Amino acid sequence: MTILVTGGAGFIGSNFVLDWLAENNEAVINVDKLTYAGNLQNLEGVMASNRHVFARVDIGDGAAIADLLTTHRPRAILNFAAESHVDRSIHGPAAFIETNVVGTFRLLEAARKYWSELEETERQQFRFLHVSTDEVYGSLSATDEPFRETNRYEPNSPYSASKASSDHLVRAYHHTYGLPVLTTNCSNNYGPYHFPEKLIPLCIHNALAGKPLPIYGDGQQIRDWLYVKDHCSAIRRVLEQGRLGETYNVGGWNEKANLDVVKTLCAILDELSPRKDGASYSSQITFVKDRPGHDRRYAIDARKIEQELGWKPAETFESGIRKTVEWYLSHQEWVSNVTSGAYQSWVGQQYGA
Ligand code: NAD
Ligand code: TYD
Repeated sequence: MTILVTGGAGFIGSNFVLDWLAENNEAVINVDKLTYAGNLQNLEGVMASNRHVFARVDIGDGAAIADLLTTHRPRAILNFAAESHVDRSIHGPAAFIETNVVGTFRLLEAARKYWSELEETERQQFRFLHVSTDEVYGSLSATDEPFRETNRYEPNSPYSASKASSDHLVRAYHHTYGLPVLTTNCSNNYGPYHFPEKLIPLCIHNALAGKPLPIYGDGQQIRDWLYVKDHCSAIRRVLEQGRLGETYNVGGWNEKANLDVVKTLCAILDELSPRKDGASYSSQITFVKDRPGHDRRYAIDARKIEQELGWKPAETFESGIRKTVEWYLSHQEWVSNVTSGAYQSWVGQQYGA
């Protein structure tokens, strides 16, 4: 048995592939275009495994995806591949439309053809699981109830609008063609292999480098943080037990204001790797210009996945954030390869420009 994962060299995808191979006997076909966010160093431990096949392919390349499907005959496709950074989507939305909308469409087309030609039993068992975000629901006020699966889609950034589009396409392929789809909408993840342009790894890196810790606006924007390994276990649960055509919100019940997240990071760093001058890393906190259209609050109501599928996160924010800081402290070489761009020259050598 085999599954096909897209975006498996990115932050969440690589955590998923590593956990999958550690916990299952089933092989993984890992399809990733290796954009700036894809890093094969994340997969160092499994690149030699005969249960891991890596293919540098764009999800929008229908012919290449079709080849992979007919060669490896996976029982499921899990779509993690996306352009994922809100700030980048503000500066250059085109890539988000290309991958998140057109790419998902092409992947769905390839999946539909492959699935429709499977034998009856395989057809029944096949799944297309689409990994999405809570950002499709827009922004909450301080008193609004957390997002439920029935909330209206109100995306506010080019990123969230492109993810919302992809969710709609996935839904339509179920209703129109019967493709056996599942969608997960998850809150902000953190943990190992998180690219250091996102808040948590950026602040750990900047703190240790003696640089400012940039807080957008007043730092009172709220995110609902989930440890990445918990997200991966939720996806495995939905894949095996989710009801076809359903969406599941995945969250950690951990609403935190950005400023509090950064202060927590600073306190853990003060303890584990104190500054030579004895000052707290929190003295590096610097308020900077806010992000345009910055969503004020995200919060997930994760009762459906808990009640229907019995899934709950294993980590609290306190345990997960400590593990994350420890991971970054013990993987400084990974961080410097990413921040120096060395991981990309390796890709260049391996694959050409
Ligand atoms: P990421 O940016 O770290 O990784 C994305 C991966 O997709 C990279 O390896 C990249 O090379 C690959 N990719 C990009 N375009 C591609 C294409 N056209 N074809 C093939 N591969 C391509 O993102 P992430 O944080 O790991 O997010 C994974 C998924 O989870 C995304 O769909 C994202 O929307 C969703 N999500 C992320 C979060 C979060 O907090 N990071 C929260 C909820 C949902
Ligand atoms: P980010 O990690 O980019 O995730 P998202 O925008 O998808 O939620 O940002 C998390 C929060 O942190 C978001 O409210 C923006 C804020 N932020 C900062 O305050 N400073 C920063 O340097 C970054 C990257 C983000």
